[in-house]
Amino acid sequence: MTKTTKADLALLAFAREAQEKAYAPYSSFRVGAAIYAGGEIYQGCNVENAAYGSTVCAERGAAMAAVLAGNTFFDSIAVVGDSEDPTVPCGACRQFLAEFNPEMRVVMGAQGEHVRVSSLDDLLPDAFVRGYLDQDESRS
Ligand code: THU
Repeated sequence: MTKTTKADLALLAFAREAQEKAYAPYSSFRVGAAIYAGGEIYQGCNVENAAYGSTVCAERGAAMAAVLAGNTFFDSIAVVGDSEDPTVPCGACRQFLAEFNPEMRVVMGAQGEHVRVSSLDDLLPDAFVRGYLDQDESRS
């Protein structure tokens, strides 16, 4: 388990701020995320939909904001949800985030003070990354 730093807690505070904006009328599980990329912070919250499958997770919302601003290398992400244990990014979000640095730092917060810090590589070993697509030269 990685030691929590002051920078981790600062990023987590931005995730908690974003969590306040969560739109989660169906699950009532509010999630906030904050990405540190290019020296800037990008926030996201989960946005649910009456067609449940159209819901967007907080991490992917934050990632969209970072990419829109021109940052495609993420140093770290903080995520926090309404759980007793630190909220882990879902599998789809792990894969989505791996595109923008498979080794990024991941700070996970809970309702209380408990914080867990890991790397995306630990949470998603062997991510499918663009290098695999570059290997087949025969494709047009
Ligand atoms: N959720 C996230 O925002 N991120 C995750 O990594 C896990 C799940 C949201 C989706 C949905 O709005 C709610 O949490 C319950 O699944």
